[in-house]
Amino acid sequence: MAWYFPVLCISFVLISVALASDPSPLQDFCVSIPNSPVIVNGFACKDPKLVQANDFFFSGLHLAGNISNAVGSRATPVSVAQIPGLNTLGISLARLDYASWGLNPPHTHPRATEILTVLEGTLLVGFVTSNPENRLLTKVLQKGDVFVFPAGLIHFQHNVGYKNAVAIAALSSQNPGVITIGNAVFGSKPAIGSDILAKAFQVDGNIINQIQSRF
Ligand SMILES: *[C@@H]1O[C@H](CO)[C@@H](O)[C@H](O)[C@H]1NC(C)=O
Repeated sequence: MAWYFPVLCISFVLISVALASDPSPLQDFCVSIPNSPVIVNGFACKDPKLVQANDFFFSGLHLAGNISNAVGSRATPVSVAQIPGLNTLGISLARLDYASWGLNPPHTHPRATEILTVLEGTLLVGFVTSNPENRLLTKVLQKGDVFVFPAGLIHFQHNVGYKNAVAIAALSSQNPGVITIGNAVFGSKPAIGSDILAKAFQVDGNIINQIQSRF
């Protein structure tokens, strides 16, 4: 039986790697046709003979995002919607801009792990592990520091400095998705009943109404 356990462990590792990001491409590339009526797991492929270098190109990440909003941050995604050539490739980027004390509020990417590197400024970052521990892991990052947010976990970044901050995040999906917790829970359309949220959050319904009015 001694051989059995390592073989089982290796099998689990191989299986989990195979399932950890977007499906592997079965050809060199599958440049997306964004408006195709054909729905597949991703987008339909453009004729490879018609593919151009520009299908793999995006320009604009030198530009700061607009941080004039309630939270003082902006994510500029570069995913399959911006680069059709990312279709099926399981990777994407985002530029993140933060005002002084700006916050990228708690959110999760349902389809991706994120690896973030700070280009400018100082960020307090953190994520929370799943039930039942719900442990918060945090770190203060300086320019050049890198931090990982495991797939699916709720995470945030807070600019804890007096000047603007900039980061670049890479994500293990062509289309990582974003669920911002406040927007999804308190800003859904139509709204989740305040009686439901009052019970879930163990507070009075008036408090829920007040929070919902902010979204
Ligand atoms: C930034 O966003 C604010 C609020 O939506 C808007 O008023 C402002 O014009 C925007 N600034 C730029 C440069 O786009």
